Amino acid sequence: MKAIRADLLDFPSQPTWGETGDHQPRWRPDHWLLINDLGHIAAIQQEEPAAGIERHDHSGKLLLPGFIDTHVHSPQLPVLASYGTELLDWLNTYTFPTETAWQDPAVAARGTALFLDALLAHGTTAAVVFPTVHKTSADALFSAATQRGMRVIGGKVLMDRHAPDGLRDDVRGAERDCRDLIERWHGQGRNSYAVTVRFAPTSTPEQLAMAGALCKADPTLYMQTHVAENRDEVRWVGELFPAARSSLDVDARAGLLHERSVLAHGIWLDAEDRARLYATGAQVAHCPTSNLFLGSGLFDWRATAPAPVSIATDVGGGTSLSMQRTLAAAYAVQAMQGQRLTAWSALHAATRGAAEALQLQGEIGALEPGLMADLCLWDWSVGAVDAERIGRAQGLHEKVFAWLTLSDERHLAATWVAGRPLFTRRTA
Ligand code: GUN
Ligand code: ZN
Repeated sequence: MKAIRADLLDFPSQPTWGETGDHQPRWRPDHWLLINDLGHIAAIQQEEPAAGIERHDHSGKLLLPGFIDTHVHSPQLPVLASYGTELLDWLNTYTFPTETAWQDPAVAARGTALFLDALLAHGTTAAVVFPTVHKTSADALFSAATQRGMRVIGGKVLMDRHAPDGLRDDVRGAERDCRDLIERWHGQGRNSYAVTVRFAPTSTPEQLAMAGALCKADPTLYMQTHVAENRDEVRWVGELFPAARSSLDVDARAGLLHERSVLAHGIWLDAEDRARLYATGAQVAHCPTSNLFLGSGLFDWRATAPAPVSIATDVGGGTSLSMQRTLAAAYAVQAMQGQRLTAWSALHAATRGAAEALQLQGEIGALEPGLMADLCLWDWSVGAVDAERIGRAQGLHEKVFAWLTLSDERHLAATWVAGRPLFTRRTA
């Protein structure tokens, strides 16, 4: 057993939109969180732990559940901060050439290790991940995650058209690869398989149907794709699938929308799409830094809810793996539309909200006995400017909101996955 002393913050339930009251989160300052030898949270208490329990005293720091990034691309760290394009040009100019290199298993293994360690160094302990079209890229993801004990959801990317040589599969081969990967990885340890359709334009109708059939055959599988991100993309989907009433309708007709579906972006949905989304139980992974950087548009969170909305970096379209930076961008995107995203709704979406949307609330997303000890420990401030602001905050929401807006990975002191310390900040 070991015990961590810090200020604990998490959410027992979904905060009310726009409400900044202190009763919305569960705030347990100066508490001890006890971790058992299986890596589960054993207890949370104010009293000092019993003698014999290893103590880690981090009083004055903030302990949160590890962040959950519901949409991020493992091969795209080299694509970060690429200048001057919108989605379709960005894919062709930067992203596809970079992903092609992952046909070499050594490149994929090295890139995946770098990527997962980078997530941990940003306080993210669980992620829904797009690797590449290559089967070995999914093997690399699951085996590196297994080594670290991380919760990951992912799958080989399906794309059998409108992509360069070296980055296309075909329906038969892709189905074989998916079945083999599912058998070897789905439900093994903390890995889950997601049927991974890149987006409608890069799959033939036959491949979309195959993906839908895989989902239908096993309702424990996840599904991930991009939908309605960019206006040129939406127009192109309309040309490729003239019988569909919308981009979302293409996915719906293929049988891709269900309670374990994660749809990245969902900016250009209409009211009928949103009602349908809600009816299927699928969630939207909102990717605000990506949407701003690629000029994709402003996601309407209020109109999309009551469908679940989680938060995602979408690196390399997004500009940072930091969930705080992503949440700060989410605040700005809502502000542009006359809405106010509270620190409570923001942090909930990045922790318990995402866990519930993924049906993983029994494993991650909160600080509760029985859940895995996936934790991140944060400094409230690291410099004179944020210290000045945080020091003057009146009340809990103001303090946490200022922290969320001003902090990033520099504030991360430590990350634990299943109770094991996998990141500790080097002190100079
Ligand atoms: N749509 C299809 N592929 C991608 C991708 O890699 N990133 C983003 N942001 N959108 C996509
Ligand atoms: Zn993406």
